[in-house]
Amino acid sequence: MPENLEQHAIDDGVATLRRGELLAIPTETVYGLAADAGNDAAVGKIFRLKGRPADHPLIVHIADASKLTDWAIDVPDIAYRLAAQFWPGPLTMVLKKHPRVSEVVTGGQDTIGLRCPNNPLTLDLLRAFGGGVAAPSANRFGRISPTSAEHVRAEFGQNTPAILDGGPCAVGIESTIVDLSGDQPRILREGHIRRAQLLPYLPALQSGESSASPRVSGSLEAHYAPRTPMQMRPRQAFAETAEPDCAVLALDTVPDGWRGICLPSNADDYARGLYAGLRHLDTLKARMIVIEQTPESADWLAVNDRINRALAGAGDTP
Ligand code: TXA
Ligand code: MG
Repeated sequence: MPENLEQHAIDDGVATLRRGELLAIPTETVYGLAADAGNDAAVGKIFRLKGRPADHPLIVHIADASKLTDWAIDVPDIAYRLAAQFWPGPLTMVLKKHPRVSEVVTGGQDTIGLRCPNNPLTLDLLRAFGGGVAAPSANRFGRISPTSAEHVRAEFGQNTPAILDGGPCAVGIESTIVDLSGDQPRILREGHIRRAQLLPYLPALQSGESSASPRVSGSLEAHYAPRTPMQMRPRQAFAETAEPDCAVLALDTVPDGWRGICLPSNADDYARGLYAGLRHLDTLKARMIVIEQTPESADWLAVNDRINRALAGAGDTP
């Protein structure tokens, strides 16, 4: 976008947020459905449009680490060290919420998820807006996260809000979430930033939810799901006859005789194309989407997590 058009889009976006309306925003991970985090009525519109239960907390997006204390209390030093290393970027930190922050945003939790996204348009928007922007992924509850403006329109049809179009997302899957609010740091959601990258900062890092963790939508077993039923098979299982009523999501090459698409066999490149790929396959009206088994190495944790949740939820709902 030429610079003056960009500035115009950002000014419009800020005005939209200030009016208490929704705005779809680009981030490096996925598109977000944004509202002024300081305006309960505006935040309520996010839950309604998504069809998201009110007890599922939202991430608040901020311009930089200097804003942490606007939203959180008892911010540990490690939060600033992580921000210095990984922000702007795909890392969400869960901290103790500031008493001023509305429970509408945090779904009734006494903690808050904060992140500074690495997208130039959205960073400019956040700086110009000044406040925090609450934004879940811009998809209907339980469905595939959008990685382009076109996907946002496909999700919401005539109810689509204003969109700040930043082109396709560079990372393609949601941020890594690390909970720093408890006694032990804990990864609540795997993402582009790996455990191995966090370990030097957080040697005591735990994985998975503790009994104290809230029920988070990204951690529900069925999520990120296409409407077409899905299954996973190893490559060898494609050697036999192609099933014409199936569509395949393969690694590197589409097996002979099959229809479908392939993604690169490198975890980051695969992640970038995964949601667009699933969306495309879902439009083919196949009987079944067959995913080629992905590697099980640590690099693939976040991708495999999304695939497993898509497998659990596929074909479920209208
Ligand atoms: O990459 C991302 O994080 C994207 C972009 C738009 O920033 N956002 C995103 O939001 O994935 P959403 O709402 O689809 O997923 C946010 C996850 C949910 O699983 C939510 O429950 C969890 O973050 N979360 C938010 N606040 C939390 C809190 N206080 N404690 C625990 N989990 C929290
Ligand atoms: Mg989501």
